[in-house]
Amino acid sequence: MERIVILSGAGLSAESGLGTFRDEGGIWSRYDLSEVATPEGFARDPAQVHEFYNARRSNAALAVPNPAHKALVRLQSSRDVFLVTQNVDALLDRAGARNVLHMHGRLDRATCAACGETWDAPDVMHPEDPCPGCGTCATRPDVVWFGEMPKGLDLIEERLGDATLFVAIGTSGTVYPAAGFVDIARSAGVPTLELNLEPSGGVFDAGRYGRASRIVPDWVDEVLSRIR
Ligand code: OAD
Repeated sequence: MERIVILSGAGLSAESGLGTFRDEGGIWSRYDLSEVATPEGFARDPAQVHEFYNARRSNAALAVPNPAHKALVRLQSSRDVFLVTQNVDALLDRAGARNVLHMHGRLDRATCAACGETWDAPDVMHPEDPCPGCGTCATRPDVVWFGEMPKGLDLIEERLGDATLFVAIGTSGTVYPAAGFVDIARSAGVPTLELNLEPSGGVFDAGRYGRASRIVPDWVDEVLSRIR
């Protein structure tokens, strides 16, 4: 029985019009990561951080899933596929994917830094928004910042160790722990495949390169054409 674990990154959503981080003109060439994506940056200037995520939330809400998202949903509907994404957009979910593990959180969710309650984020968040649970004005986007622990790591490691194939799609492999998943898979004897615009530099058993909207559907068609 096939058990496929897929890790996706910003390249999966690039053709939906959402910018990547480290490509030319990417998000981290326009914004200072330490100001907008760290707990220290939020403590210094919560209004600036909310402004950054409010703009990203609005872009993500306007974006639509592309053929790569849809192909992964097709694959999940007839194979055992565990989808892990570093993307804070909800394009996989909106394409119809089930049980997506958002290891870096989601733009469309909010959380309270004081009590940990989570809820659907409004379109625009402000530093003075009170938590619907405890009333404290410490609400923040439910995204994982640098220096914080990504979500679901135990489950991801468990599924990686038990997989029959690990696939990384559209990620540069620069941010840990996600960048280390390929090594965890390889150590467990799991075959590894990279689907990316260009080789990321990670050690994969195989790679296919090009735009996600083309190479992901092609790969999915191949997998689905194989008799189980
Ligand atoms: P990056 O911007 O680092 O990498 C994007 C990858 O997608 C690169 O390898 C590109 O070559 C590839 N790519 C670009 N366009 C593509 C396309 N049309 N089709 C296929 N591949 C394409 O983004 P991530 O690896 O996702 O974390 O970044 C990882 C984490 O760093 C993010 O989750 C975020 C960021 O800082 C946090 O904010 C915590």
